[in-house]
Amino acid sequence: MERANTMLNQINLNQDFGRSRKVCVVGAGRWGKNHIKTFADLGVLAGVVETNQDALLSLRKQYPDVKLFTNIEHALEHDFDGFTIATPVHTHFDVAKAIIESGRHVLVEKPITMKSTEALELKRLAEQNKVNLMVGHVLLFHPAFRKIKELIDNGILGELQYVYSNRLNLGTIRTEENVFWSFAPHDISLFQYLTDSFPQVIASSGAMIIQDGLHDTTITTIKYPGNVTGHIYVSWLHPFKEHRFVVIGSNGMIRFEDSMEGKPLVFYDKGVVWQAGKPQARDGEVSHIDYDKTPPLTLELKYFVDHLDGTPVEIANAQNAVEVMQILEGATESLMKGQDQTTVKLQKYAS
Ligand SMILES: NC(=O)c1ccc[n+]([C@@H]2O[C@H](COP(=O)([O-])OP(=O)(O)OC[C@H]3O[C@@H](n4cnc5c(N)ncnc54)[C@H](O)[C@@H]3O)[C@@H](O)[C@H]2O)c1
Repeated sequence: MERANTMLNQINLNQDFGRSRKVCVVGAGRWGKNHIKTFADLGVLAGVVETNQDALLSLRKQYPDVKLFTNIEHALEHDFDGFTIATPVHTHFDVAKAIIESGRHVLVEKPITMKSTEALELKRLAEQNKVNLMVGHVLLFHPAFRKIKELIDNGILGELQYVYSNRLNLGTIRTEENVFWSFAPHDISLFQYLTDSFPQVIASSGAMIIQDGLHDTTITTIKYPGNVTGHIYVSWLHPFKEHRFVVIGSNGMIRFEDSMEGKPLVFYDKGVVWQAGKPQARDGEVSHIDYDKTPPLTLELKYFVDHLDGTPVEIANAQNAVEVMQILEGATESLMKGQDQTTVKLQKYAS
């Protein structure tokens, strides 16, 4: 991953990142529009596939030189170098499979598929067809998280002890995947990045309020080797947006507030020391850390374009996608065991 960070820094400096490349975006909905705009700004947008005619009409006005299609088969007849998929998750596997089998590079939005076995199949297909398969774990490209990783890797934080993420909002309520599948792929991909390992144990619980069978809020605890623990709290039934990420190390602590004004990244020179056999809080300086404010989606899509020459991708690659899917499934298994098997029942004393 250190090498991957160096490569990412090089992208920032490299202005000539492949304007001769042609990219086609599949799905022009809420998020796909961001792919389209970013690729247009990068000068590589050449095609869009969208099943909705109204959406196509408005794209025709906005991007008169871009080829538009209503299905992927027609788009595959053209000479695009790579595709990104921003359609609903249940379509990802079939669309990605068709693209990979045509020998073209692809970036699939998160969650990559509905099952880890499908993600594994796409990974193998991509290897056989010698194409890059990337997943839209966009926060792996976020300069603030790359700074956090730097502080862990160069020992400033000491031993990594605890990580948590709150991703809460009254946002898009999906009907095919629950809130954990919708929001937490980002957090899991970050936990994987920061710990450089694979979890040993996962436990998840939550509440289904709006739709039967789909959780609206979940709290998940993940244990990594070396006694590193973390939790992920996600909800789309929450009165305000809170994207908070906290990292606790033996020598210091970090807080990143992605939903606050100015998106502060703060280092706390605080911790716990042992004095006369007792743990004591150690209070130290609080300092703000600067980081590059380039939007992570721009960095992610630039990285994808930069690898359309077939150089293997290292960040948000197929292996990362499969691992995140396995962790999503582990959490789902725990969620579905439900309250009966994982919790202790309480009864109030009679008064
Ligand atoms: N990386 C991120 O931060 C992020 C953020 C939001 C959404 N997403 C992901 O992006 C994907 C899309 O989410 P969204 O919110 O934009 O959904 P959306 O429903 O707003 O848009 C999906 C679009 O795909 C079109 N579509 C459906 N099937 C198609 C097909 N077979 N071929 C072509 N077009 C098709 C629909 O008409 C629609 O316009 C999801 O996987 C979601 O999880 C990622």
